[in-house]
Amino acid sequence: MTAETLEPRPIPVLRRDDRGLPFIGQVLEYAKDPVGLYRRHWERYGPVAPFRTLNTNAAMLLGPDACGEALQNKDKAFANQPAWSQLVGPFFHRGLMLIDFDEHLGHRRIMQEAFVRPRLETYTRRLHPAIEHGMTAWETGKEFPAYWRLKQLTLDIAADLFMGGARDTSQAEMDRVNKAFIACVQAAAGIIRANVPGTRWGRAYRGRKVLESFLRHYLPAKRANQTDDIFSVLCHIETDDGDRFTDDDVVNHMVFLMMAAHDTSTITTATMLQYLGQHPAWQERCRTEAEALGPAPSAAELEGLVSLDLVMREALRLRAPVPVLVRHTVKDTVVQGVRIPADTSVALGIQFTHLMADYWTNPEEFDPGRFSPERREDKSHRFAWEPFGGGVHKCIGMHFAGLEVKAIMHRLLRGYHWRVDPGYVPPMDNHSLPFPKDGLPITLIRN
Ligand code: HEM
Repeated sequence: MTAETLEPRPIPVLRRDDRGLPFIGQVLEYAKDPVGLYRRHWERYGPVAPFRTLNTNAAMLLGPDACGEALQNKDKAFANQPAWSQLVGPFFHRGLMLIDFDEHLGHRRIMQEAFVRPRLETYTRRLHPAIEHGMTAWETGKEFPAYWRLKQLTLDIAADLFMGGARDTSQAEMDRVNKAFIACVQAAAGIIRANVPGTRWGRAYRGRKVLESFLRHYLPAKRANQTDDIFSVLCHIETDDGDRFTDDDVVNHMVFLMMAAHDTSTITTATMLQYLGQHPAWQERCRTEAEALGPAPSAAELEGLVSLDLVMREALRLRAPVPVLVRHTVKDTVVQGVRIPADTSVALGIQFTHLMADYWTNPEEFDPGRFSPERREDKSHRFAWEPFGGGVHKCIGMHFAGLEVKAIMHRLLRGYHWRVDPGYVPPMDNHSLPFPKDGLPITLIRN
């Protein structure tokens, strides 16, 4: 092979018929059918494909090799902050996912202390009463929008477990905080991206202010008195070297953590509810295991729910709550033999990998057994299954997420059964994180 053939290739040129609409480029097409778009680009351009979004030429990494290279980020060319802040706006400023390189490592070391095993066990004990309380008003015997109920439930859980505020705060104030938080989350799908009253961004600017003043108001009390909610934990954790979060850090990390934990867990639980409704045999299998435990299982007991774990992994494969990760190159780099210049926006199509026939048998089918020890299809490639990302930014809350999702499902399975039409395909909204536009109508029947 000559030296010339080893030269990295440029990113392929976007074909005229792939350019999309003026200014917004391929954004609408992505929102309509992301997997269709990934497939076509994979077939036309290969693992490093061109992509056009909001007047910007970007690169789309497809397949586990290309995504894996960016996640491993060996030459430190891919940064998170410039990429994610463009997408989610300034409202999650200095959250852990939006800090890079050495500074990120320092913050991550401190935050890791909030997710060590004994703390996960404490959070789990706190989860059960919050879930029970959140589900008391759920309708049975008639159709209800399960996705929206689950979203409210994870918000209620966060109010207790993250903020620890529900106990000494009026319901009206918690409602105001929840609304402010939702305004920040919804900003990601805003088209007018400036502080304009009446727009999503305008509401998010106000929301961020409300959240900050709420957190700053309670911060001195949290510093003075250690309790077992995440807000208080962030005020007290420190590394072996004595590094701690400043007040600003605590506020910034809290706002981001609430966001990171909220829609992701809701989407996962909703997907499980849908597929278990369509696959009664798996629902029964999961129920049998759930009924063998008491009403408030420990972290270890929840982790021992083998069938539920397989179902959760399969749900995360079929509908990754974060289907795309974004990065921005801070220097020239090469991925799969293709040169990506500095200052390029890059999207990692995690969801596409989850549906590639090279790594999964009948990838579109719900088949939790593919994760069983005998099959382990997720081991077909190191980066075949990456719903929690990979590399230094890999989800720090993934074990907690598994516990929260399983605690909710455990209670649902013990209390109710449900069926969903096997032919039902939820109409998805993909503008921000994917969710069923019809709210996922389900009828719960008491066991
Ligand atoms: C099923 C639920 C969840 C999914 C699918 C999920 C997914 C992800 C993904 C894909 C990333 C990597 C982003 C990137 O590389 O740019 C991430 C990062 C992160 N997640 Fe999660 N997440 C979930 C739940 C949670 C929960 C419950 C928490 C907190 C309690 C959390 C906190 C975080 C944080 C702080 C980061 C940033 C980590 C870093 O940059 O070092 N996540 N999550």
